[in-house]
Amino acid sequence: MSDGDFSLMHDPTLPPVVMPACPIEKKLKGQKALVTGASSGIGKGIAIGLGHAGADVVVNYVSGTSDAEAVVEEIMRCGGGKSYAHRCDVSDEDDVRQMFDRMRREFGTVDILVNNAGLQQDAPFEEMTLAQWNKVINVNLTGQFLCAREVVREFKRRGAQPAVTCSAGKIICISSVHDVIPWAGHVNYAASKGGVAMMMKSLAQEVAPWRIRVNAISPGAVRTPINMQAWSTMEAYTELMRLVPYKRIGEVDDIARAAVWLASDDSDYITGATIYVDGGMTLYPGFETGG
Ligand code: BGC
Repeated sequence: MSDGDFSLMHDPTLPPVVMPACPIEKKLKGQKALVTGASSGIGKGIAIGLGHAGADVVVNYVSGTSDAEAVVEEIMRCGGGKSYAHRCDVSDEDDVRQMFDRMRREFGTVDILVNNAGLQQDAPFEEMTLAQWNKVINVNLTGQFLCAREVVREFKRRGAQPAVTCSAGKIICISSVHDVIPWAGHVNYAASKGGVAMMMKSLAQEVAPWRIRVNAISPGAVRTPINMQAWSTMEAYTELMRLVPYKRIGEVDDIARAAVWLASDDSDYITGATIYVDGGMTLYPGFETGG
């Protein structure tokens, strides 16, 4: 590479790039948020980010109670708001209903839903079982539908509360660059994220007249357990950087900041949008040279 030293492809075995602390400005003070799949990875980062910004946060998880409790502690330590962990399978309709019933009892209402829970079950297409297909669609897409349906009901029931926030509610769907980038060997996952993208836009159009905002964040390669094989060795990391024009892996804080902004009144006129937080992964990196 010319034009200065851009050899910033840091060694993946070193600690993550240090990001400045989450905003201490309490932009979300008084707001009640629920983050699904928040005991680890991107969901954990978002839950803590919303807490730092002053929101009261429900930390949803499906396994790993002590991890979820640690997220709750961090939120209460830094945000000063309220928080509790709630175990629930987002693909189970009754479970989801009960989770929101409890949130209304404990926090009074919901202002922000972050639909984050998601998983991968990869297989070559001809070997993919119906169970693998269904599991990924049920959690990644149907789970987002069930949670969004519950909050839309609550947002419409409660209406706007101008003293707290401009809109009558915000939904942030965590999608993936694979809502536009095809992904061989991961057909169930890519199909689920493509579904999330159109669910998000169609819902945004439907509920905008009620002043409900629905947006998506599509992360690229972010340093979490879900893709550890892609960054945990120097060889894998070097290969990954061929797909990332910005030449560093994403950190959960990169996603958390975008989520705090989308949840705040700073983005009040934005609905139906997808923000790609991906270091340029969707910029056809193969065309950096040639073409
Ligand atoms: C996947 C990761 C992958 C990234 C970029 C994400 O949606 O969950 O496993 O590294 O997309 O390909």
